[in-house]
Amino acid sequence: MTHLFEPLTLRGITLKNRIAVSPMCQYSSVDGFANDWHLVHYGSRAAGGAGLVLTEAAAVTPQGRISPLDLGIWSDDHVEFLARITHFINQRGSVAGIQLAHAGRKASSPPPWENRSVTLTEAEGGWPIVAPSSIPFDDGCIVPAELGEDGIRDISKAFVEAARRSLLAGFGIVEIHAAHGYLLHQFLSPLSNRRTDQYGGSFENRTRLLKEIVIAVRAIWPENLPLLVRISATDWVEGGWNIAQSLELVRQLLPLGVDLIDCSSGGSDPHARIPLGAGYQTGFAEQIRRETGGKSGAVGMITSPVQADHIIRSGQADLVLLARELLRDPYWPLRAARELGQTTPWPAQYVRSAPANTPAYLPEK
Ligand SMILES: Cc1cc2nc3c(=O)[nH]c(=O)nc-3n(C[C@H](O)[C@H](O)[C@H](O)COP(=O)(O)O)c2cc1C
Repeated sequence: MTHLFEPLTLRGITLKNRIAVSPMCQYSSVDGFANDWHLVHYGSRAAGGAGLVLTEAAAVTPQGRISPLDLGIWSDDHVEFLARITHFINQRGSVAGIQLAHAGRKASSPPPWENRSVTLTEAEGGWPIVAPSSIPFDDGCIVPAELGEDGIRDISKAFVEAARRSLLAGFGIVEIHAAHGYLLHQFLSPLSNRRTDQYGGSFENRTRLLKEIVIAVRAIWPENLPLLVRISATDWVEGGWNIAQSLELVRQLLPLGVDLIDCSSGGSDPHARIPLGAGYQTGFAEQIRRETGGKSGAVGMITSPVQADHIIRSGQADLVLLARELLRDPYWPLRAARELGQTTPWPAQYVRSAPANTPAYLPEK
């Protein structure tokens, strides 16, 4: 039976286990650049034994940042420091992945610790925001400008350019962020997309941009490297995006070369009632896996090793993504291995009582 510590192969990449660091904005960049914080933060989680270390949302254009402090990959200059991070992650036997994103109408926001859901003004360091339709995210948010077809084309190209840079930076996996009420999800959801052109209205039209971006990124992303898409399986709002539409979307994405669907939810409507609880989104990963035959990742309030192992063993998902639990404990995978009776080596640097002749405990060559 497949378990948490069994490797997962996606195209030419094999993850040593089924534990991923879920993307988490660090709000620690200036002009989109990664720095020592990111090296230590991601490096610790690689040293902690996660099979896949996904970066936070990396903005494909400066306007696509959620906040002025977001990570970015809109310039070739961003590549050098990112390459240092991927090098360290790969050296630890983990795989480095990057999440590519555009925040759309949720861009130009303050970092979360300011605890106010508004759009920053230009005087506060904000910038003009764009979206599929001129509908603000919430009270206090600026009305976004509706994107024209040229603007849409430019954003598609920005995703492709960002993927090209991701490859140069040494990432083995790219994840396209189409969840949490950010730009690509804004196109998918009838709550935020009221367009009457080929990008709005019908299901086919609302899903067009995401499919175009997947096709364009897949065309330049090497055949042997995996491409993931994160979706919000539901808006949790009557009349919004829902699991039936997600299933149909996934059926259309898989033949385009998407290797795993990362199944999150919500983010379109700040007033949605979300039934938070242990593993509250895992059912979506299970349904998507079962009904489409594609691979899925489960995320959301997965905290205990037994819970994570059960998700894999019972075939609910192929991968588990942990966010806050891996902030609390970067060494969660190593602890989980011990708790589940698996043998996963700690970094050699940390081992003081290695049994003689145990290759697993020897430093890498
Ligand atoms: C600090 C923080 C930053 C986050 N940033 C992102 C992000 O950049 N991209 C994304 O898709 N999700 C982001 N999320 C959501 C997480 O990836 C995850 O889906 C969510 O926290 C639920 O998982 P958990 O219960 O294990 O924390 C973030 C979550 C946290 C706590």
